[in-house]
Amino acid sequence: MKIIGTGSALPEKVVTNDMLAGFLDTSDEWITTRTGIRTRRLLSHETLRELALKAAQAALQSSGLRPEDIDYLICSNVANSYVSPSLGSIVLGQLGCSCPTFDMNGACAGLVYSLDVADAFLKSRDMKNILIVAAEQPSRFCSWHDRATCVLFGDGASAMVVTQGEGFKDFRLTGDTHTEVMYYKRQMERTPYDRVEEPTEPLVMNGREVFRLAVEACINDVDTLLERNGMTGADVDLFLLHQANMRIIECIREHLGQPKEKFPTNIQKYGNTSSASIGILMDEMSRSGELKDGQTVMLSAFGGGFVTAAALLKWSAIQY
Ligand code: ACO
Repeated sequence: MKIIGTGSALPEKVVTNDMLAGFLDTSDEWITTRTGIRTRRLLSHETLRELALKAAQAALQSSGLRPEDIDYLICSNVANSYVSPSLGSIVLGQLGCSCPTFDMNGACAGLVYSLDVADAFLKSRDMKNILIVAAEQPSRFCSWHDRATCVLFGDGASAMVVTQGEGFKDFRLTGDTHTEVMYYKRQMERTPYDRVEEPTEPLVMNGREVFRLAVEACINDVDTLLERNGMTGADVDLFLLHQANMRIIECIREHLGQPKEKFPTNIQKYGNTSSASIGILMDEMSRSGELKDGQTVMLSAFGGGFVTAAALLKWSAIQY
């Protein structure tokens, strides 16, 4: 499987750390040193559906394919205003596609989870082209009175078209139940019979524990893929990691003993956009020519659950 088109879309509204310090007990200095985030984009007049569509259209256009060439649409999304229909179903028609679709909730690892599923579909089914969309609005999971969570996130969407061919070499996915370290609950409609009250709880996160789990899991995935493929960190040109926290990325970089240039980031501008983050980074780097033909790339992501996913691939340049 290889990637033949990429796209991304971000909300217009830029929110700086100083803007947050206007209504929260926080500071640019605290947020920047603990996370690396300077600004984030937040949905204001747009909807996530519009961002998802924009990213998908850009990916489709860069692939040179028509909507009818897409055999499946996988949409990575943790939550949006619509519980039903799926976000994939909503985007599908507006895009002009009429293929099967489903939403994937692989938390922040959802894009790499979707790539793994697409790879399996392309190998086992009579399919040629799959569109993957990762669209997230994690800013809406948080209480905007909780300085420990809301400063971390941004909204955004990314997309890619994958097809049969040489590119992805290996995947590693893991799952473990650690509900307590990070969760967001929404109250559902009540029936006359339910006796368990589960009120809405905005994102609850044990930041230190998530940090520890993320570093440990990411290192495990990357080391496993390297070992399984007879490689070392030196054989990888770029590590495109989930953009959750600059210090998490730095811990992984130190473990691998590789130079900073191999770990590109855009968390400074966008914050943590959940499963959209790696796709946004790839789209920007592919369009700017920073992702070069033949480069060996490692993707690695982690998220609530606790789930992780990593992939090893050789990049093929895309003409935009
Ligand atoms: N501004 C100022 N002070 C703050 C803020 C803030 N925004 N947030 C917390 N603090 C305070 C705390 O209240 C605490 O104060 P206290 O010592 O008086 O109690 C102090 O800062 C230290 O808090 P810690 O939580 O211990 O700070 P830490 O150094 O661990 O940094 C952070 C917190 C940035 C959240 C870090 O733990 C982290 O990045 N964890 C990973 C989070 C993450 O990446 N989550 C998402 C991953 S999964 C996914 O992407 C969905």
